[in-house]
Amino acid sequence: MSTLHDTGYRGFASDNYAGVHPEVLTAIAEANGGHQISYGEDAYTERLQQVLAGHFGAGVSGWPVFNGTGANVLSLQAILPRWGAVVCAETAHINTDENAAPERVGSLKLLTVPTPDGKLTPELIDRQAWGFGDEHRAQPLAVSITQTTELGTCYTADEIAAICSHAHSLGMKVHLDGSRIANAAATLGVDLAEFTSKAGVDLLSLGGTKNGALGAEAIVLLDPAAGDDAYGLKYLRKMNMQLASKMRFVSAQLIALLEGDLWLRSAAHANAMAGRLAAAVGNLDGVRVTQPVQANAVFAILDKAAADRVRKDFRFYDWNPATGEVRWMCAWDTTEGDVDAFAAAIAAEVA
Ligand SMILES: Cc1ncc(COP(=O)(O)O)c(C=O)c1O
Repeated sequence: MSTLHDTGYRGFASDNYAGVHPEVLTAIAEANGGHQISYGEDAYTERLQQVLAGHFGAGVSGWPVFNGTGANVLSLQAILPRWGAVVCAETAHINTDENAAPERVGSLKLLTVPTPDGKLTPELIDRQAWGFGDEHRAQPLAVSITQTTELGTCYTADEIAAICSHAHSLGMKVHLDGSRIANAAATLGVDLAEFTSKAGVDLLSLGGTKNGALGAEAIVLLDPAAGDDAYGLKYLRKMNMQLASKMRFVSAQLIALLEGDLWLRSAAHANAMAGRLAAAVGNLDGVRVTQPVQANAVFAILDKAAADRVRKDFRFYDWNPATGEVRWMCAWDTTEGDVDAFAAAIAAEVA
């Protein structure tokens, strides 16, 4: 097969537009050859457990899956009974971008809360965390937060610890959608454990794909009290069609990211590119950056006709068509040149 696309093309629509990091491709090749036991009993999935323990602490368990939606739905199913409901931000990916999979596939109700910046707080959680024991109300037994958020903002470790302590005091479990967890660690300058296991998060969806993997995510069960049945994850993963037969290749990708510092290098670079973009366009007349840039995303409002002209060369998505807000994402492979060319195109069109 020959290359079918223009490898020089760059978009700012999604961090998933980027390809696979060469070090991940190398890891997949290293894991190839010979036979390995399927469905997770391979040397790479075993090694991944040690790598995850190094990041999140002894006793955690990792459950590789194919995609982030699967990781989220499966995580929520694992921590909730059938009558359970999940308190989440209105902007949460589980609410806006998973085609109601938590409801349709997981049979779980989402209780959403509007937020200014995609972040929940104990007070915001309380808007939906009520009616415990009332048979007429879906029981709010879990909180799901996203780090970094869908609006490119980042919780501090203390903010997450406060959410966990509040949720636990109400008998609720805490799930963290860590599709961009590496970007958060890069922003905060702390270890992954600092705002997850040490903050009291019960389980998380660990993102790999946006961080340079080909297609690899994992649920990481952090709760030391989860016990041997691991909240039933073993059975739920198969039921949810997220059990990879050739799991060694999913695990190898995550090892490539997490064994050394590839995860951090890639995330820090993507964040820096978003910072560069915000700095380049933030002061332009006709562009208003709407959220603090704390990860690899820039949200901005600009004239719709100007946005559409820029889009002819650089794809990006509308975030809120009603207000003209758009989202610009940077990836592990976005270069300074890409950012400068994009910023110049925006400047030319809004002028
Ligand atoms: C915050 C967040 N969570 C989860 C996902 C998982 O998505 P996917 O199922 O496409 O891997 C995404 C992808 O855009 C996301 O942005």
